[in-house]
Amino acid sequence: ELPLPFRVPLPIPPVARPTRSDATTDYYDLSPRVAEQEILPGTRTRIWGYAGRFPGPTVEARSGRRVVVHQTNELPVPVVTHLHGGRTPPASDGYPTDLLLPRHGDFPTGTAGAAGRAGMADPRARVTRGSRTYDFPLDQPAAPLWYHDHRMDFTAPQLWRGLAGMWFVRDDEEDALPLPRDERELPLMICDRSFGPKGNLLYPALDPHLRDRPGVREAYSGGVLGDVILVNGAPWPHLDVSATRYRLRILNASNARRYELTLRPAPAGEPAFVQIGSDGGLLARPVPRSTLTLAPGERVDVVVDFGRFPVGTTVVLANAAGEDGAARVMRFRVVRRERDTTHVPARLAKIERLDPAKASVTREFAFESGDVHGHAGWTVNGEAFDPAKTLARPRLGATEVWRLTSDVEHPVHLHLVQFQVLTLDGEPPKADLGRKDTLDLRPAQTAEIIARFDGYRGRYVLHCHNLEHEDMAMMANFEVV
Ligand code: C2O
Ligand code: CU
Repeated sequence: ELPLPFRVPLPIPPVARPTRSDATTDYYDLSPRVAEQEILPGTRTRIWGYAGRFPGPTVEARSGRRVVVHQTNELPVPVVTHLHGGRTPPASDGYPTDLLLPRHGDFPTGTAGAAGRAGMADPRARVTRGSRTYDFPLDQPAAPLWYHDHRMDFTAPQLWRGLAGMWFVRDDEEDALPLPRDERELPLMICDRSFGPKGNLLYPALDPHLRDRPGVREAYSGGVLGDVILVNGAPWPHLDVSATRYRLRILNASNARRYELTLRPAPAGEPAFVQIGSDGGLLARPVPRSTLTLAPGERVDVVVDFGRFPVGTTVVLANAAGEDGAARVMRFRVVRRERDTTHVPARLAKIERLDPAKASVTREFAFESGDVHGHAGWTVNGEAFDPAKTLARPRLGATEVWRLTSDVEHPVHLHLVQFQVLTLDGEPPKADLGRKDTLDLRPAQTAEIIARFDGYRGRYVLHCHNLEHEDMAMMANFEVV
């Protein structure tokens, strides 16, 4: 039986505590392990979580200050961790075959077995057993990032079990803005899950042990949806707020579900939300929005002024794209008046507009269904993911235009870079402003994006962030040379 909505208080994931810090670096331990957690009231759910929690602890980082993450893999399967939206050197970017094998157990150290899909050895894979560290320079502006598992062929079931956490980069420029902060800044990780009768997480994996048969049954090849909406790991939670502005930092961490978020009732007058940022940080200027569309992997940073509702109002964060339980996300109740010294300034950040006239090349990437080793799967330019194949070799520092096309919905994600959307179906985008790393491509759409490939040389991936599509091979390499 599903829990009643709006009964569980909104949890805020704890901020990770460094194991030590020095002049340049903060060190963390975010080891993945099995844990039991109360998700549905009155039942214990077995999860896989960073530091044994779902969501994992939130990392609070500063722009330009290095973070080193140590992990010991206490799970029974390989993992590899990616910092989504991070400008990260290739060795720490969580390339899908750079597996960290379990500390215990018998997973073979050869990459073929460990990588999953039969016969797909990757001679460049960095495979280690037991423990490893990741190095994040975070040479990038303030932004809402997140970290999650990225194991080749098994990312979807491993995230479903809980391997995801939020990670905020902050900087002086953002700190100087008069935006809501502290308890009026809310990280909201939204994802859908399904539960069995004992509170167990249900996922239709072909291989329940997640050893060597990737993917899901045919019926789920469009992606796996759950019937319970979790925010920060709690089902349809509620939160009492004061009649002031709040900053909501929303992440869609779902495997395959898109949301169209609205407030019900909508406040009188202006639109419900003022968007101040997207995946890669602040926008140049605030943009009023009545609906927030979020595909898997996307983030949106908004301010909501609860002062526009009478005290006593309950306000539902609803999902216009969902039905039944998935039509609502959480509920706020405006409980008291309070002084509000915050506001949303007319100018937020300096963003350099990348100029398509300076692009050295235009490349095409088609996201479409296709043959994956003799089965129906998902491809990029007709190719199933193969670590040995490289679809693009941008030069370090080059600006490039990439034209992305879709057959059905595909949220396209690029590692390493934040891009700007030039056009969607030939028009300048209305949403999708600012710095983006994930773009919600709708069916039969064409997008032109522009990015500068600076930072690091090496092998990175672009892929669909519908995690079932990703596991069914909708991923490709690009190599910065
Ligand atoms: Cu959020 Cu390559 O992933
Ligand atoms: Cu897709």
